[in-house]
Amino acid sequence: RSDGRFAEALLAWYDRHARVLPWRVSPADLAAGIRPDPYRVWMSEIMLQQTTVAAVKGYFASFTERWPTVEALAGAADAEVMGAWAGLGYYARARNLLACARDVASQRGGRFPETAAELRSLPGVGEYTSAAIAAIAFDEPVAVVDGNIERIATRIACIETPLPAARRPIRALVQDLTPAKRPGDFAQAMMDLGATICTPRRPACVLCPVGEGCKARRQGRQELFPVKAAK
Ligand code: ADE
Repeated sequence: RSDGRFAEALLAWYDRHARVLPWRVSPADLAAGIRPDPYRVWMSEIMLQQTTVAAVKGYFASFTERWPTVEALAGAADAEVMGAWAGLGYYARARNLLACARDVASQRGGRFPETAAELRSLPGVGEYTSAAIAAIAFDEPVAVVDGNIERIATRIACIETPLPAARRPIRALVQDLTPAKRPGDFAQAMMDLGATICTPRRPACVLCPVGEGCKARRQGRQELFPVKAAK
């Protein structure tokens, strides 16, 4: 495990700058003991899989208003859910959403499993989504790795191996940096860092809360990562 300074600096930044998003519990509310609703965390992560935050916001609001619980969603007709999903794209996600809701409602007493390993057995829940739900909803200190977080990791450590072969060292690094406390905030702080500062082009390194620990920045090579395999 790393010495924790990276996570400490990133979480201090997140405490001040976390984006306010409808599926998120703020760092202050979490500190006051408010727990995220696993149903809302799951729904948001499914919607965000291939879709931007801006596009998801309205759909997330209408789905959770119309179906506030996993039991309510499980009781919806297929056509209702497919109709409400129209415009979000990747319709397999909507079919899996309903299959998963029915599984959780009928086979699991309406409760989502609490570990990444068990979450993976649900329809539509793969490696990324299971880790995100486990970290955010259940505080499991598991590495959450999406495309933004891959970019951050390759810059921090100057990982010269091209994607996709770099996935294994990236996962090891992110696991190493993930703190035992607040792993969900850590993952979401990484997402926010990737969206607002550690962007693909022209990253705003002068504003970065973890720039001290970034090898690519020290070398002035931040825009050279991640390395892509030659076509
Ligand atoms: N993209 C995927 N999951 C997210 C989350 N929880 N917060 C912000 N962006 C995300």
